Amino acid sequence: MKVLVVGGAGYIGSHVARLFADKGHGVDIVDNLSTGSRDNLFPDYGFFEGSILDYPWLLGVMRRGYDAIVHLAASKAAGESMLVPEKYSLQNISGTINIINAACEAGIRTIVFSSSAAVYGEPKYLPIDELHPQNPENYYGFTKLEIERILAWYDRLKGLKFAALRYFNVAGYDPAGVIHGLEKNPANLIPVIMEVAAGMRPALDVFGTDYPTPDGTGVRDYIHVSDLAAAHLAALEYVAREGKSLTVNLGSESGLSVLELIEAARRITGKAIPANIVGRRPGDPAKLVASSATAKRLLGWEARHSDLDTLISTTWRAYRRSLKLD
Ligand code: UD1
Repeated sequence: MKVLVVGGAGYIGSHVARLFADKGHGVDIVDNLSTGSRDNLFPDYGFFEGSILDYPWLLGVMRRGYDAIVHLAASKAAGESMLVPEKYSLQNISGTINIINAACEAGIRTIVFSSSAAVYGEPKYLPIDELHPQNPENYYGFTKLEIERILAWYDRLKGLKFAALRYFNVAGYDPAGVIHGLEKNPANLIPVIMEVAAGMRPALDVFGTDYPTPDGTGVRDYIHVSDLAAAHLAALEYVAREGKSLTVNLGSESGLSVLELIEAARRITGKAIPANIVGRRPGDPAKLVASSATAKRLLGWEARHSDLDTLISTTWRAYRRSLKLD
């Protein structure tokens, strides 16, 4: 297949693009490099630098002819989305509508969309399956849910088939060590821990130690980015084969706490990684864990690299290499 990976220079997109190309698919990338890295662009890709907000330009790229679009170009800081919703309206909603409309106009009928566990909001039960009520707690999650609903309409009205992949907490770097381009200004826990280990920040803040969890800190379902990339391929193959749209959770089905991650990072990096206990971050649930039973059943997919040590050690290697720490 010939696939256009929108956001392919980014953290997740780079892993998806590399896997697709390694499996023999043609890969072209669209990225504006706002958070992505040129280090993630390999010579076997076509690269088009520009913005998904520029519809005529985007349509011109899509008219080159693709079998499918994989769309990972979005802003994803849940906290920021509550302060600057305009940015999320434009990038995540308007930008994605442009992609969907351009795909239809260019005759592309298959899209894989990066959705999020944030569509569920505060959990009513665990593990969270796809039938869990959808009640986003932040505007970021709302933008993802809104696009899922638009995709469902376009399926009915335009025959656009989609895979909406509801990611839990994505972490790690490719175990082969090929991809090491770092995200700019990361806000998620594991990159923040790595920046402290690398000496780029003096310390990290632990957002709350009074949650009803075994050690009092927040528990999340961390899914390795290479497992996630494999799910994109399986999802695209499913949609192409079955001619049916698909909405699935992607998680490891196990929970790790903030302190477990910090302790593992101290052990693996050999660095002190100072941590300050501060208050809870508004909107953070105590615990989120996925049921990935649907992805297992429909895609034959399961997490293989999402254990604690692989998550941390592959990330630390990418940081050491990119920052030339060795
Ligand atoms: C959030 C979104 C998720 C989205 C992801 C991408 C929600 C409920 N989740 O995940 O859908 O895909 O962002 O960015 O909206 N923590 C600290 N110190 C830090 C940073 C984080 O203690 O400096 C803690 C948090 O309180 C949380 C855990 O670490 O318990 C993970 O936080 P983070 O990496 O920001 O991801 P989520 O908020 O879980």
